[in-house]
Amino acid sequence: MLVEPTLHHVNVSQGALQNPTGNYQKRLSELAGLYQDEEAFQKAALEAGESVVYEVTDCRPEVTRGNMIFGVTRMQPGKIGNEFYLTRGHIHAVANRPEIYYCEAGRGVMLMESPEGEIRTIELTPRAMCYVPPFWIHRSVNVGADTLVMSFFYPADSGQDYEVIRDTGGMKSRIVAVNGGWEEIPNPNYQPRSQVQIDAIYASGDQA
Ligand SMILES: [Fe+2]
Repeated sequence: MLVEPTLHHVNVSQGALQNPTGNYQKRLSELAGLYQDEEAFQKAALEAGESVVYEVTDCRPEVTRGNMIFGVTRMQPGKIGNEFYLTRGHIHAVANRPEIYYCEAGRGVMLMESPEGEIRTIELTPRAMCYVPPFWIHRSVNVGADTLVMSFFYPADSGQDYEVIRDTGGMKSRIVAVNGGWEEIPNPNYQPRSQVQIDAIYASGDQA
């Protein structure tokens, strides 16, 4: 069964994909446990727990092998303590599925971690593109003063596994504010994966 070709404009000022098939929002209150400074988080959640931190409009033609899911994410600027607003982050459930992010507006960092605990950061500014290769855990961070808008593209059968970050006490690094910019610092709660856990991630890749 052929999927019908479609056209989608990116509304950069609204941070939205036109003609999407779906959308979702993440409110601050839903992001408990992600930040180092729990006290600052509780305070922020009391004051503005219902505020939307990030919002996605996407197009999901069909979740079958060979299709793509694509969309636009809009992320508000802000910090919890000195740590920038971030997305929950994940690895793809079929872990060898990659993803591409294209920055439309704002200033962001793609924080990536290999199963073994190697960290990579790629800064994104408008018209910059980041390739997240197979097997990298990834999370977006808004390190700017403005809304961060990014388009993204990934295979439709990728799926998302969020536990991979929770199981290690967060990602190995955190992105914090320093002198008007950002820096990567170690996450003191991080527990490295066992060899069994690492092997399980690589085994979840569909290599056929
Ligand atoms: Fe992803």
